[in-house]
Amino acid sequence: MSAAHIEVRGVSKVFGSALMALQNISLEIPRGQLVCLLGPSGCGKSTLLNAIAGFAPPSSGSIVADGQPVAGPGPERGMVFQEYALFPWMTVADNVAFGLEIKGLPTAQVRATVERLLHTLSLQDFRHRFPKDLSGGMRQRVAIARVLALDSPILLMDEPFGALDALTRRNLQDELLRLWGELKKTIIFVTHSIEEALYLAERIVVMTYRPGTVKRDLMVELARPRDPAAPAFNALKRELGLLVMEEQQRHHNAELRAAAVD
Ligand SMILES: Nc1ncnc2c1ncn2[C@@H]1O[C@H](COP(=O)(O)OP(=O)(O)OP(=O)(O)O)[C@@H](O)[C@H]1O
Ligand SMILES: [Mg+2]
Repeated sequence: MSAAHIEVRGVSKVFGSALMALQNISLEIPRGQLVCLLGPSGCGKSTLLNAIAGFAPPSSGSIVADGQPVAGPGPERGMVFQEYALFPWMTVADNVAFGLEIKGLPTAQVRATVERLLHTLSLQDFRHRFPKDLSGGMRQRVAIARVLALDSPILLMDEPFGALDALTRRNLQDELLRLWGELKKTIIFVTHSIEEALYLAERIVVMTYRPGTVKRDLMVELARPRDPAAPAFNALKRELGLLVMEEQQRHHNAELRAAAVD
């Protein structure tokens, strides 16, 4: 019996007859850890996250989360997507309340939780707006509030800040670090930004490009708050940059080979 909060055991994923997206990935993630999955486009980050979320089962291997084998989505795992995934016909407050209402909680409790989260994420002045009237950063705050409302001990985040401008992105990264410090959730955060991974993560798992395997699994010992201009930050950034670049090159070479066959 392992003490890991999330355990990925020998997970492989094959699409169609031959596309090996993940190959024999094993990871043990302790409770409360903030892990970033890092790698170039197409290396299988979303495939792995979706398998952990229970949206798409692995072809072989198994996953255990919060003590239970993963056989589908579950309330102990909350997912934040890149594209916000809000209901456009619902206001901010209704979007945040949605999961709680589905759970059948009493109205007063739903209202109290929604109010608390709207304040936590500085959304209180926007509660009656619809998603289309919000900036990208605001929408992503709503998406985070909505997942936090469910109070899942595990948060899975797939490039949640990828579409935001640099300043908004840094803002939300700080917000996430604050929430993580307060709520002590286990977070798996997917990104292809080396700087984002170094700014956020306690641990970075670098993936290889097709088939996706674990190329490097390292703890980030930099003190917080982290300073992206600091020499130690930059030294790690360079080291990780080389690893990711090697995989990007493999991607590029694979594309050239595919083009030559066509
Ligand atoms: N449903 C699917 N059917 C077929 N192939 C798929 C499917 N989903 C993903 N793939 C392929 O599996 C590989 C890994 O894809 P995945 O989306 O996990 O990569 P990623 O690391 O998340 O990339 P990105 O950074 O662009 O989001 C890619 O080659 C992709 O084309
Ligand atoms: Mg992806």
